[in-house]
Amino acid sequence: MEIKTIQTSPYTDQVCGTSGLRKKTSVFKQKNYLENFVQSVFNALSDIEGKTLVIGGDGRYFNDTAVQSIIRLAVANQFGRLIIGQNGILSTPAASHLIVKRKAFGGIILSASHNPGGPEGDVGIKFDTAQGAPAPQAVTDKISEKAKMIDHYWTCDIPDVNLSEIGEQLIGSTVIEVVDSVEDYALYMQEIFDFHAIQKLFQSGFRMTYDALNAVTGPYAVHIFEKLLGAPAGTVIHAKPLPDFGGLHPEPNLTYAHAFVEKMFADDAPDFGAASDGDGDRYMILGKKFFVAPSDSLAVLMQYADQIPFYAGRIYGVARSMPTADAVDFVAAQKNLPVFATPTGWKYFSSLLNARKISFCGEESFGSGSFHLCEKDGIWAILFWLNILAVTRKSVQELNEELWHHFGRVYTSTQSYEGLETATVREMFAAYEQHAADLVGTKVNNHQIKEVGVFNYTDPVTQETAKNQGDYILFDDNSRIFWRLSGTGSSGATLRVYYMKHEKNPARLHENAADYLQPLQEIFTQLVQLETYTGRTHPDVTT
Ligand code: G1P
Ligand code: ZN
Repeated sequence: MEIKTIQTSPYTDQVCGTSGLRKKTSVFKQKNYLENFVQSVFNALSDIEGKTLVIGGDGRYFNDTAVQSIIRLAVANQFGRLIIGQNGILSTPAASHLIVKRKAFGGIILSASHNPGGPEGDVGIKFDTAQGAPAPQAVTDKISEKAKMIDHYWTCDIPDVNLSEIGEQLIGSTVIEVVDSVEDYALYMQEIFDFHAIQKLFQSGFRMTYDALNAVTGPYAVHIFEKLLGAPAGTVIHAKPLPDFGGLHPEPNLTYAHAFVEKMFADDAPDFGAASDGDGDRYMILGKKFFVAPSDSLAVLMQYADQIPFYAGRIYGVARSMPTADAVDFVAAQKNLPVFATPTGWKYFSSLLNARKISFCGEESFGSGSFHLCEKDGIWAILFWLNILAVTRKSVQELNEELWHHFGRVYTSTQSYEGLETATVREMFAAYEQHAADLVGTKVNNHQIKEVGVFNYTDPVTQETAKNQGDYILFDDNSRIFWRLSGTGSSGATLRVYYMKHEKNPARLHENAADYLQPLQEIFTQLVQLETYTGRTHPDVTT
């Protein structure tokens, strides 16, 4: 096998965002685009010769050709072993687990997560370290830097590797190993949760619907929920991963998974509904006619964590991203455990998890996780809920409302304005920031402003700092508005605005969150002059 050196020139846009490189499919299809980036990843890492690399993706359009290109580059760069999910499929959490279990040097995950796929959609690629964690800022910066100056990459002329058959073969000095995408992950889940208790729950007639949205989790869900836990066949819907997700949007939230939400709000709805995103790291939980906000889900997990054998005696603390409503803070305070508020992006949780400063973490964007692995994990969170339901035999709604009655409810809503002009948004932010300090102590629409600021973060473990992670306004009643620009979009700018308010009045615990928070939304749009700058009066997505 001959190693070929291919001359290339850099693309200026290969800069890593919140989760690696995410672009339109058409961008990724440009000549050498993928190869440039993959070689830049290899260039940013030292000592790769003879090492083990895990490769897999969410099965979206371009996944198969990309996996074959990565294999060629990895062989030419002389990795010792490539562990590849069957048919190129690995969910993000399963890839993370495999990296650690097989003591790999790292992994390349092909996924644009919850962004739509297909020729008009998005493609993404990210590197996970030996801890199975998203590459930290220092590494992604280095990758971006290498991509800026790349002038050649190494590849080889080998035919496409048959990824449908499990087994090993040697190519050059590299062992190519195709593994079952589900097996190891499913075994791990059985170590964590009480499968026996959950089986009994299903035997008692408990009904669940899981929507895999034709994305990566279908095979995982069928194996775990139906085969291992005994849920009836058909519990998992949209189970086959499809290149275009069968036209469904691979993001489980109230806007995009609307059809599924309607099913859960019908009179004959099952007891429990759950869904995951494109690459399986996010999840949404619904009860019969009841939606669980991600921040509330984290609070429920924390409340009942000691019921899960794997965590007994190992509950250290919890982290949530700053934009995530602080429902879990109340549970943690009662248990006398620390809470960390981090910038957006899973990488900020990794150091806390590794240092065992926390056991659990979560984001408002439908992601939760624990130290069981260093990525968020959708199926894990759903199993966590099932385990709690099995042990308590309470309904989803009861579990939630008990917390509301005890601590009050933290209403929360996230609104995204997509496809904005980056320059305009920056101008709008700058104009606001000029007069922001003067707002303190003033009243806007009957809301007294207590504090304004920019969120800066210092990692308590690594002491690394992350500046300008978003703007916030805090009111006298502790309600809060937080806003920032998305780092995962593939074009234009997406403005995310996060609202939250703590309500203790028992008579006001059952309102519609978006309606309840409407006054805060009005304050925000007024203070930043949203319509004047962007022409927008309504968000594109509310969750
Ligand atoms: C979004 C979410 C964030 C999550 C990230 C990766 O990032 O808001 O919580 O960590 O996707 O799944 P954003 O587009 O807001 O930068
Ligand atoms: Zn995802």
